[in-house]
Amino acid sequence: MKLIVVGATGFVGGEVVRQALCNPAIASIVAITRRAMQPPADAVDASKFRCFVLEDWLSPYPQSLKVLIEGADACIWLNQSLDTRSLAITPSQSRNMDFAYVTEVCHDYTIHALESMVAVANKPFRFIYVSGILIERDQTKELPYLAEYRHMRGRTENALLDFAQRAAPNVQATVAKPGAIDGLGPKATPDAIIKALFQIFGHTPRVHVSELAAAMIDQCQHGITEDPLWSDKLSEIGKRVLREEDYLR
Ligand SMILES: NC(=O)c1ccc[n+]([C@@H]2O[C@H](COP(=O)([O-])OP(=O)(O)OC[C@H]3O[C@@H](n4cnc5c(N)ncnc54)[C@H](OP(=O)(O)O)[C@@H]3O)[C@@H](O)[C@H]2O)c1
Repeated sequence: MKLIVVGATGFVGGEVVRQALCNPAIASIVAITRRAMQPPADAVDASKFRCFVLEDWLSPYPQSLKVLIEGADACIWLNQSLDTRSLAITPSQSRNMDFAYVTEVCHDYTIHALESMVAVANKPFRFIYVSGILIERDQTKELPYLAEYRHMRGRTENALLDFAQRAAPNVQATVAKPGAIDGLGPKATPDAIIKALFQIFGHTPRVHVSELAAAMIDQCQHGITEDPLWSDKLSEIGKRVLREEDYLR
Protein backbone atom coordinates (compact mmCIF):
# COMPACT_ATOMS: atom_id res chain seq x y z
CA MET A 1 0.00 0.00 0.00
CA LYS A 2 1.14 3.55 -0.76
CA LEU A 3 -0.01 5.99 1.94
CA ILE A 4 -0.09 9.78 1.77
CA VAL A 5 0.05 11.61 5.11
CA VAL A 6 -0.76 15.32 5.31
CA GLY A 7 -0.02 16.93 8.66
CA ALA A 8 2.82 14.48 9.31
CA THR A 9 4.83 17.05 11.29
CA GLY A 10 2.05 17.29 13.89
CA PHE A 11 1.14 15.32 17.01
CA VAL A 12 -1.17 12.74 15.41
CA GLY A 13 0.56 12.76 12.02
CA GLY A 14 3.89 11.92 13.60
CA GLU A 15 2.37 8.83 15.18
CA VAL A 16 0.76 7.82 11.86
CA VAL A 17 4.18 8.02 10.20
CA ARG A 18 5.90 6.13 13.04
CA GLN A 19 3.44 3.24 12.79
CA ALA A 20 3.32 3.24 8.99
CA LEU A 21 7.10 2.88 8.88
CA CYS A 22 6.82 -0.32 10.97
CA ASN A 23 3.93 -1.74 8.97
CA PRO A 24 5.09 -4.27 6.35
CA ALA A 25 1.84 -3.81 4.40
CA ILE A 26 2.82 -0.20 3.69
CA ALA A 27 5.45 -0.10 0.96
CA SER A 28 5.59 3.66 0.57
CA ILE A 29 4.74 6.73 2.68
CA VAL A 30 4.57 10.20 1.16
CA ALA A 31 4.33 13.10 3.61
CA ILE A 32 3.15 16.35 2.05
CA THR A 33 4.33 19.15 4.32
CA ARG A 34 5.17 22.85 4.36
CA ARG A 35 8.61 22.24 5.89
CA ALA A 36 11.16 19.47 5.40
CA MET A 37 10.71 16.44 7.61
CA GLN A 38 12.94 13.47 8.32
CA PRO A 39 11.63 10.03 9.30
CA PRO A 40 12.26 9.04 12.93
CA ALA A 41 15.93 8.17 13.52
CA ASP A 42 15.03 4.65 14.73
CA ALA A 43 12.87 3.81 11.69
CA VAL A 44 13.51 0.23 10.58
CA ASP A 45 13.12 1.08 6.90
CA ALA A 46 13.36 4.82 6.31
CA SER A 47 13.79 4.23 2.59
CA LYS A 48 10.03 3.90 2.16
CA PHE A 49 9.50 7.46 3.46
CA ARG A 50 9.41 10.49 1.18
CA CYS A 51 8.66 14.08 2.13
CA PHE A 52 7.42 16.62 -0.40
CA VAL A 53 7.47 20.26 0.68
CA LEU A 54 4.49 21.92 -0.98
CA GLU A 55 4.68 25.69 -1.25
CA ASP A 56 1.41 26.51 -2.96
CA TRP A 57 -1.46 24.40 -1.58
CA LEU A 58 -4.14 25.74 -3.94
CA SER A 59 -2.49 25.53 -7.37
CA PRO A 60 -2.43 22.40 -9.54
CA TYR A 61 0.00 19.91 -8.05
CA PRO A 62 3.51 20.11 -9.57
CA GLN A 63 4.43 17.22 -11.85
CA SER A 64 7.06 16.01 -9.38
CA LEU A 65 4.40 15.61 -6.67
CA LYS A 66 2.02 13.89 -9.06
CA VAL A 67 4.76 11.37 -9.87
CA LEU A 68 5.43 10.80 -6.16
CA ILE A 69 1.80 10.12 -5.24
CA GLU A 70 0.87 8.26 -8.42
CA GLY A 71 -0.82 4.97 -7.54
CA ALA A 72 -1.45 5.97 -3.93
CA ASP A 73 -4.03 3.83 -2.15
CA ALA A 74 -4.97 6.10 0.72
CA CYS A 75 -4.49 9.44 2.43
CA ILE A 76 -4.73 10.36 6.10
CA TRP A 77 -5.36 14.11 6.33
CA LEU A 78 -4.52 15.92 9.57
CA ASN A 79 -3.76 19.48 8.57
CA GLN A 80 -5.27 22.22 10.62
CA SER A 81 -4.20 25.80 11.03
CA LEU A 82 -5.20 26.14 14.66
CA ASP A 83 -3.86 24.77 17.87
CA THR A 84 -6.81 22.62 18.94
CA ARG A 85 -5.57 22.58 22.48
CA SER A 86 -5.47 26.38 22.76
CA LEU A 87 -8.73 26.66 20.91
CA ALA A 88 -10.42 24.42 23.41
CA ILE A 89 -9.64 26.62 26.36
CA THR A 90 -9.61 30.07 24.83
CA PRO A 91 -12.50 30.31 22.40
CA SER A 92 -11.85 34.03 22.08
CA GLN A 93 -8.79 33.13 20.00
CA SER A 94 -11.10 32.20 17.17
CA ARG A 95 -12.31 35.79 17.03
CA ASN A 96 -8.76 37.15 16.75
CA MET A 97 -7.52 34.94 13.97
CA ASP A 98 -7.74 35.54 10.26
CA PHE A 99 -10.73 33.35 9.59
CA ALA A 100 -10.38 33.54 5.80
CA TYR A 101 -6.91 32.02 6.12
CA VAL A 102 -8.08 29.35 8.56
CA THR A 103 -10.86 28.44 6.12
CA GLU A 104 -8.36 28.29 3.29
CA VAL A 105 -6.12 25.86 5.19
CA CYS A 106 -8.85 23.73 6.73
CA HIS A 107 -11.37 23.65 3.89
CA ASP A 108 -9.91 24.74 0.56
CA TYR A 109 -6.58 22.88 0.91
CA THR A 110 -8.43 19.67 1.79
CA ILE A 111 -10.89 19.64 -1.08
CA HIS A 112 -8.26 20.74 -3.62
CA ALA A 113 -5.93 17.99 -2.38
CA LEU A 114 -8.59 15.30 -2.54
CA GLU A 115 -9.38 16.21 -6.16
CA SER A 116 -5.67 16.36 -7.06
CA MET A 117 -4.88 13.02 -5.40
CA VAL A 118 -7.81 11.17 -6.93
CA ALA A 119 -6.63 12.19 -10.40
CA VAL A 120 -3.47 10.09 -10.05
CA ALA A 121 -4.33 7.60 -7.29
CA ASN A 122 -5.28 3.94 -7.37
CA LYS A 123 -8.89 2.84 -7.32
CA PRO A 124 -10.37 2.62 -4.78
CA PHE A 125 -8.66 5.56 -3.12
CA ARG A 126 -9.37 5.84 0.62
CA PHE A 127 -9.35 9.26 2.27
CA ILE A 128 -9.54 9.72 6.03
CA TYR A 129 -10.05 13.26 7.27
CA VAL A 130 -9.28 13.90 10.92
CA SER A 131 -11.73 16.30 12.41
CA GLY A 132 -13.11 16.45 15.93
CA ILE A 133 -16.05 15.61 18.09
CA LEU A 134 -17.14 19.26 18.25
CA ILE A 135 -17.24 19.82 14.51
CA GLU A 136 -20.81 20.23 13.25
CA ARG A 137 -22.06 19.12 9.85
CA ASP A 138 -25.55 20.55 10.31
CA GLN A 139 -25.15 24.16 9.18
CA THR A 140 -28.52 25.12 10.64
CA LYS A 141 -27.65 24.02 14.16
CA GLU A 142 -27.02 26.85 16.59
CA LEU A 143 -23.72 26.50 18.42
CA PRO A 144 -22.95 28.53 21.50
CA TYR A 145 -19.17 28.29 21.16
CA LEU A 146 -16.85 28.58 18.16
CA ALA A 147 -19.78 28.33 15.78
CA GLU A 148 -18.01 29.76 12.74
CA TYR A 149 -15.06 27.41 13.06
CA ARG A 150 -17.12 24.31 13.88
CA HIS A 151 -19.52 24.93 10.99
CA MET A 152 -16.69 25.63 8.57
CA ARG A 153 -14.99 22.34 9.36
CA GLY A 154 -18.40 20.66 9.16
CA ARG A 155 -18.75 22.02 5.63
CA THR A 156 -15.37 20.47 4.84
CA GLU A 157 -16.62 17.11 6.07
CA ASN A 158 -19.79 17.47 3.98
CA ALA A 159 -17.85 18.50 0.87
CA LEU A 160 -15.36 15.65 0.96
CA LEU A 161 -18.06 13.07 1.70
CA ASP A 162 -20.16 14.43 -1.20
CA PHE A 163 -17.12 14.20 -3.46
CA ALA A 164 -16.55 10.59 -2.43
CA GLN A 165 -20.19 9.71 -2.95
CA ARG A 166 -20.13 11.14 -6.46
CA ALA A 167 -16.92 9.27 -7.25
CA ALA A 168 -18.00 5.97 -5.65
CA PRO A 169 -16.81 3.24 -5.74
CA ASN A 170 -13.48 4.70 -6.85
CA VAL A 171 -13.22 6.96 -3.82
CA GLN A 172 -14.08 6.03 -0.24
CA ALA A 173 -13.97 8.62 2.53
CA THR A 174 -14.64 8.88 6.21
CA VAL A 175 -14.13 11.38 8.99
CA ALA A 176 -12.37 10.47 12.22
CA LYS A 177 -13.92 12.43 15.08
CA PRO A 178 -11.82 11.97 18.17
CA GLY A 179 -12.60 13.82 21.38
CA ALA A 180 -9.53 14.31 23.51
CA ILE A 181 -6.38 12.59 22.30
CA ASP A 182 -4.14 11.03 24.92
CA GLY A 183 -0.49 10.33 24.40
CA LEU A 184 2.94 11.03 25.66
CA GLY A 185 5.00 14.07 24.89
CA PRO A 186 4.44 17.82 25.00
CA LYS A 187 1.63 17.81 22.44
CA ALA A 188 -0.62 15.41 24.33
CA THR A 189 -3.87 16.98 25.42
CA PRO A 190 -3.25 18.11 29.00
CA ASP A 191 -5.77 17.37 31.71
CA ALA A 192 -6.61 21.05 32.15
CA ILE A 193 -7.98 21.09 28.62
CA ILE A 194 -9.91 17.90 29.15
CA LYS A 195 -11.49 19.52 32.18
CA ALA A 196 -12.32 22.70 30.25
CA LEU A 197 -13.93 20.65 27.48
CA PHE A 198 -15.75 18.61 30.05
CA GLN A 199 -17.23 21.71 31.62
CA ILE A 200 -18.36 23.26 28.36
CA PHE A 201 -19.48 20.25 26.40
CA GLY A 202 -20.09 17.53 28.95
CA HIS A 203 -18.52 14.08 28.68
CA THR A 204 -15.52 14.10 26.36
CA PRO A 205 -14.48 10.71 25.00
CA ARG A 206 -10.75 10.06 24.81
CA VAL A 207 -8.61 7.98 22.52
CA HIS A 208 -4.90 7.28 22.73
CA VAL A 209 -2.92 8.74 19.84
CA SER A 210 -1.48 5.29 19.03
CA GLU A 211 -4.96 3.75 18.86
CA LEU A 212 -6.17 6.61 16.67
CA ALA A 213 -3.26 6.21 14.25
CA ALA A 214 -3.56 2.42 14.17
CA ALA A 215 -7.32 2.54 13.55
CA MET A 216 -6.92 4.94 10.62
CA ILE A 217 -4.13 2.88 9.07
CA ASP A 218 -6.30 -0.24 9.49
CA GLN A 219 -9.20 1.46 7.69
CA CYS A 220 -6.88 2.54 4.89
CA GLN A 221 -5.57 -0.97 4.56
CA HIS A 222 -8.73 -3.07 4.89
CA GLY A 223 -11.47 -0.67 3.84
CA ILE A 224 -13.56 2.02 5.40
CA THR A 225 -16.31 0.54 7.54
CA GLU A 226 -18.26 3.59 8.62
CA ASP A 227 -18.60 7.34 8.80
CA PRO A 228 -17.94 9.05 11.09
CA LEU A 229 -15.42 7.15 13.14
CA TRP A 230 -16.03 8.28 16.71
CA SER A 231 -13.55 7.97 19.57
CA ASP A 232 -15.00 4.72 20.91
CA LYS A 233 -14.76 3.01 17.54
CA LEU A 234 -11.25 4.34 16.91
CA SER A 235 -10.21 3.11 20.32
CA GLU A 236 -11.80 -0.30 19.76
CA ILE A 237 -10.07 -0.82 16.40
CA GLY A 238 -6.78 0.53 17.72
CA LYS A 239 -6.83 -1.79 20.75
CA ARG A 240 -7.61 -4.75 18.48
CA VAL A 241 -4.72 -4.19 16.07
CA LEU A 242 -2.04 -2.86 18.43
CA ARG A 243 0.21 -4.92 20.64
CA GLU A 244 1.28 -3.44 23.99
CA GLU A 245 4.78 -2.77 22.64
CA ASP A 246 3.40 -0.86 19.63
CA TYR A 247 2.16 2.07 21.73
CA LEU A 248 4.05 5.36 21.64
CA ARG A 249 6.38 5.45 24.64
N1 LIG B 1 -4.64 17.22 19.42
C1 LIG B 1 -5.86 17.03 19.89
O1 LIG B 1 -6.08 16.93 21.11
C2 LIG B 1 -7.02 16.87 18.93
C3 LIG B 1 -8.29 16.53 19.45
C4 LIG B 1 -9.34 16.35 18.55
C5 LIG B 1 -9.15 16.51 17.19
N2 LIG B 1 -7.92 16.85 16.71
C6 LIG B 1 -7.76 17.01 15.26
O2 LIG B 1 -6.72 16.14 14.82
C7 LIG B 1 -6.04 16.72 13.71
C8 LIG B 1 -4.55 16.70 13.99
O3 LIG B 1 -4.30 17.36 15.22
P1 LIG B 1 -2.83 17.52 15.80
O4 LIG B 1 -2.96 17.73 17.26
O5 LIG B 1 -1.95 16.45 15.26
O6 LIG B 1 -2.42 18.92 15.14
P2 LIG B 1 -0.98 19.62 15.15
O7 LIG B 1 -0.02 18.91 15.99
O8 LIG B 1 -1.24 21.07 15.42
O9 LIG B 1 -0.52 19.44 13.62
C9 LIG B 1 -1.15 20.20 12.60
C10 LIG B 1 -0.50 19.91 11.27
O10 LIG B 1 -1.06 20.85 10.33
C11 LIG B 1 0.01 21.50 9.65
N3 LIG B 1 -0.34 22.86 9.30
C12 LIG B 1 -0.70 23.86 10.15
N4 LIG B 1 -0.90 24.99 9.46
C13 LIG B 1 -0.65 24.71 8.16
C14 LIG B 1 -0.66 25.48 6.98
N5 LIG B 1 -0.99 26.78 6.98
N6 LIG B 1 -0.32 24.88 5.82
C15 LIG B 1 0.00 23.58 5.79
N7 LIG B 1 0.03 22.79 6.89
C16 LIG B 1 -0.28 23.36 8.07
C17 LIG B 1 1.16 21.50 10.64
O11 LIG B 1 2.36 21.68 9.93
P3 LIG B 1 3.60 22.52 10.57
O12 LIG B 1 4.34 21.52 11.40
O13 LIG B 1 4.35 23.00 9.38
O14 LIG B 1 3.00 23.63 11.39
C18 LIG B 1 1.01 20.11 11.27
O15 LIG B 1 1.61 19.13 10.46
C19 LIG B 1 -6.61 18.14 13.56
O16 LIG B 1 -7.56 18.14 12.52
C20 LIG B 1 -7.30 18.40 14.88
O17 LIG B 1 -8.38 19.29 14.75
C21 LIG B 1 -6.85 17.03 17.55
